[in-house]
Amino acid sequence: MSAPTVTAAATRAVGREHVRVEGRDKVTGAARYAGEVPFADLAHGWLVLSTVARGRIEEIVTDPVLEMPGVLAVLHHGNAPRLETDFVGLMGTRPDPTCAVFQHDRVPHAGWPVALVVAETSEQAREAAETLVVHYEQQHHDVEFTAADPAAYPVDGHMPAITDKGDLEAELAASAVVLDAEYTTPEEHHHPMEPHAATARWDDGRLEVTDSNQGATWVVSELANIFRLDPASVRVRSEHVGGGFGSKGVRAHQVAAVMAASVLGRPVRVALTRRQMFTLAGHRSPTIQRVRLGADADGRLRALDHRSLSRTSTVYEFVEPSAGVARVMYDADAHHTENKVVRLDVPSPTWMRAPGEAPGSFALEAALDELAEKCGIDPIELRLRNEPDKGPVSGLPFASRNLRACFEEGARRFGWDRRDPRPGVRRDGRWLLGTGTAGASFGAGAAPSTASITAEADGHFTVRIAAADIGTGARTALTLVAADALDVPTERVRVRVGDSAFGPAMIAGGSMGTRSWSWAVTAAAGELRERLVPGMQIPEQGITVRSDTTEAVAALVRKERHSFGAQFAEVAVDPATGEVRVRRMLGIFAAGRIVNPLTARGQFTGGMIWGISMALHEEAARDGHFGGLVGADLAGYHVATHADVPHIEADWVDDPDPEDPVGIKGIGEIGVVGAAAAVANAVWHATGVRHRGLPIRPDRVLTAGPRA
Ligand code: MOS
Repeated sequence: MSAPTVTAAATRAVGREHVRVEGRDKVTGAARYAGEVPFADLAHGWLVLSTVARGRIEEIVTDPVLEMPGVLAVLHHGNAPRLETDFVGLMGTRPDPTCAVFQHDRVPHAGWPVALVVAETSEQAREAAETLVVHYEQQHHDVEFTAADPAAYPVDGHMPAITDKGDLEAELAASAVVLDAEYTTPEEHHHPMEPHAATARWDDGRLEVTDSNQGATWVVSELANIFRLDPASVRVRSEHVGGGFGSKGVRAHQVAAVMAASVLGRPVRVALTRRQMFTLAGHRSPTIQRVRLGADADGRLRALDHRSLSRTSTVYEFVEPSAGVARVMYDADAHHTENKVVRLDVPSPTWMRAPGEAPGSFALEAALDELAEKCGIDPIELRLRNEPDKGPVSGLPFASRNLRACFEEGARRFGWDRRDPRPGVRRDGRWLLGTGTAGASFGAGAAPSTASITAEADGHFTVRIAAADIGTGARTALTLVAADALDVPTERVRVRVGDSAFGPAMIAGGSMGTRSWSWAVTAAAGELRERLVPGMQIPEQGITVRSDTTEAVAALVRKERHSFGAQFAEVAVDPATGEVRVRRMLGIFAAGRIVNPLTARGQFTGGMIWGISMALHEEAARDGHFGGLVGADLAGYHVATHADVPHIEADWVDDPDPEDPVGIKGIGEIGVVGAAAAVANAVWHATGVRHRGLPIRPDRVLTAGPRA
């Protein structure tokens, strides 16, 4: 076979719509998810979770359960192997001890994993797990999240806890207009469609885990640390993933599966139920945020103060850094932000799509809307008057900042210039109508990754990278990127992802996956093209090159790198029932080069739907008395669904990142940022009533009453 002739491609693949390369496999059921991959001699583990919110395990009555049909073992703190939890992991964070299952008898929250029942079938394991009697010494618990908690303390997380510039009180005192308001967001849950599942198998001293995760490299690293293994002896595969949103790192079920497979000497699968996901998959902490804005009469900010309080468990420190968004969006002569947490007897929160920015943008962008009203200035004009020319806190230059273009294009398409600014004056029958807007930003970055590309003897190219396609269309995006970089049609490119054996790569997270992986794929393609001479014979095993972007990524100079966006919403409010319906939404984004408009639009509109859901529906209700959730299922926890979602449009302005080989910035998270604020601001415009607590439930609309 001769090598493919390299010619200039007539059309470029990047930027053209392409259906998912694995779409047919998914709709025909040929694509297998972690819980479906067949294994010989497979045993099934079922987790038993605590029924008390705080206390100690006194006794686990295993004997009757061990007599039950098919039951092979009950693992718990009395017989489980010891694990390592004292390490800093690949993502620069310490592991959540919730993952290191069965290491002690303490129960720090309701739904804490206390045992794993392993049986021949999943049904037998479940039956036995539900029969297992556990006696607890119950202790007093505290799950009440309040603004005035004296135990709150600042936490850095992935950004500094506190930033401070200028004399805040002096600037507030000198301001012509001052806004001081408290905003709250509730506990929220990710709930990807595919529940978490993992199968662990030991093979001649090597550990293999078939899993559903956001990064095989990451899971290998965490499991190797926890079980004190050489990472080279661990392989994690995760071919298809039905959503993650931050919840699919290493969690209790993978560790329990590996532990059980070690003890039993056969493959063991552990899957979480939807209900178990409410305590073991992480969640977004509720937030209480105070925003103080001081402005001159023309709306120019003199003072910006954004303080956020979130909640974490007693075993793991995780901060929802909601005040961080203010550090990027708006400058002021005096600028203060802080992120604090309080520890309560609740499950550990974790990263959830746009961690920090999602709730933070609700408070900040709602506050800007209130300030615009007080100043008598159009909310878009107010924002444009406060466009910073450098990072408000960092002082660094923006690599690019196209927020203005988003607002101008969005306003034109939404018909903003026809908007009457007065609230509560438009009616359509029984409905009050209103429109609202909000700004959005999310960090744009790249992380080191490796990739390989093989020029095959049959003329195809095989790309291997430990990327995770969590439903975003990453596999398809990388096909387009590789095709362009190799200068061949997409049909000649096969992309394989989701296998740690392909070498280290960035996770699908932080909106950095596709950019980081594309960089590595582009680098490998460039090298391969240099190796290929037109007409050369490709050997049977192909010609393979590997790339590593560690040095290239490290060479990026420090700048403020962000995507931006403008969100618009129109709502109808029924003052008799309190019902809020979103009638239309528009989001215009400046988010780098868009690789695949088809899947990108889905990413953006998906995020915006999260915004509708956050504004109007989502709220996990924690019961103070028993410390757990009320209605921990997708009936009790309502997520926006078809009937809640109107016509949504997402589009983008030209915004290629000049420092990225493909021009990518990343689009996974920005769609949700500002979306809830746009809806809430529209509810005010419809009714004249501000709702500073989410979700804007019918009872809250009714209680708030009509405009005075
Ligand atoms: Mo995302 S919360 O970085 O998976």
